[in-house]
Amino acid sequence: MPASAKTVVVRAAHMVDVLAGRTVDNAQVVITDGRITAVGKAGDAVPAGAETIDLGARTLLPGLIDMHVHLTSDPRLSGYRGLEFTDNFWTVVGVANAKRTVEAGFTTVRNVGSANFDDVALKQGIQAGYIAGPRIVPATYALGATGGHCDSTEFPPSIKVPSPGIANSPDEFRAAVRTMRKYGAEVIKVCMTGGVLSKTDSVGGQQMSLEEIKAVTDEAHMLGMRVAAHAHGTAGINDALRGGVDTIEHASLADDESFKLAKAKGAWLDMDIYDDDYILAEGAKNGVFEESLAKERAVGRKQRETFRAAHAAGVKLLFGTDGGVYPNGDNAKQFAKMVEWGMTPMEAIQAATRSAAEALDKTADVGAIATGRYGDLIAVDGDPLADVRVLEKPAFVMKGGEVVRAAP
Ligand code: ARG
Repeated sequence: MPASAKTVVVRAAHMVDVLAGRTVDNAQVVITDGRITAVGKAGDAVPAGAETIDLGARTLLPGLIDMHVHLTSDPRLSGYRGLEFTDNFWTVVGVANAKRTVEAGFTTVRNVGSANFDDVALKQGIQAGYIAGPRIVPATYALGATGGHCDSTEFPPSIKVPSPGIANSPDEFRAAVRTMRKYGAEVIKVCMTGGVLSKTDSVGGQQMSLEEIKAVTDEAHMLGMRVAAHAHGTAGINDALRGGVDTIEHASLADDESFKLAKAKGAWLDMDIYDDDYILAEGAKNGVFEESLAKERAVGRKQRETFRAAHAAGVKLLFGTDGGVYPNGDNAKQFAKMVEWGMTPMEAIQAATRSAAEALDKTADVGAIATGRYGDLIAVDGDPLADVRVLEKPAFVMKGGEVVRAAP
């Protein structure tokens, strides 16, 4: 070990082992230069001169992962309310949300859609140490068809909005994948069907052809990126799965055929089942379009029923919340919904750790308290396996061996 190595030892009465699916007692984790070098019992030998953080009776867990956020969005500026702000205002919103997110215990996020390559800027600012925030897997601009969920459909024809993610043939989609990667995308997001918060489209309607989604997955996979498909409607979900996407976002109207396809293809469903509560309670006040509220009323409960059915069918599920649809930083509120709709607390925690790391292809780095991975840890008061709500207020957060939130 180089003389300059910085070692931190973290101890706690309990630790959730998400790989084994159990809790262990008297845990001790050693982190050297940002990565975990030993996981054992309090009392095991530690390197001389190591700093020790004793978290007492608390429970340690791996840093949480949210597979679907928009750090540069704020739900309180919905509908036309965002139009009074300058373009770079949204980067500033992202700076604030990055801090809130990591302080809430989410040490890794997949940002699936933002304008101006803002998610790349945030990632660079965090990595260079200018601002606090999670590890970010950026998608940059979401790709989609003209007039679809990822187009700006709320303006008259005379107003042109820059839209580098809009494509209308397999070749155009291929080119768009290359462009996003060129400017920093590490995952590709596509809009396969209509959406709730978009104007003029139907939530269930398919918006990309099977040929187009195949072009996206071929190109993205060739370039070493995975593909996340926004899809609420059944036909769009099923063509996205046939076309080889890695994760289905929302998945509201997935059916038995979708479950079969997802299992056969090894794809994950990533369902934002907290949002219905937030949108129906706050949406009107926040400026959400009335037509979007109507779409939410039509699809929100159905999505939760689909979540329960998918879980019962044994489909792989992830923790993704669509942060930005509700205030970023409240991500952990979705855990209670996942338990209410069929998961055990351990399964919900694994969806936000072990499985998320698999879906990101980052099991060497994040998703578990295990040797070799980053020292990304949180600690909570109480037993998260008895009450997942304790995850909503972590007492301690560490990212890469650096304390983000000190235990009181
Ligand atoms: N971004 C998504 C959309 O506009 C949000 C959906 C929220 N509603 C829900 N029930 N999950 O389609």
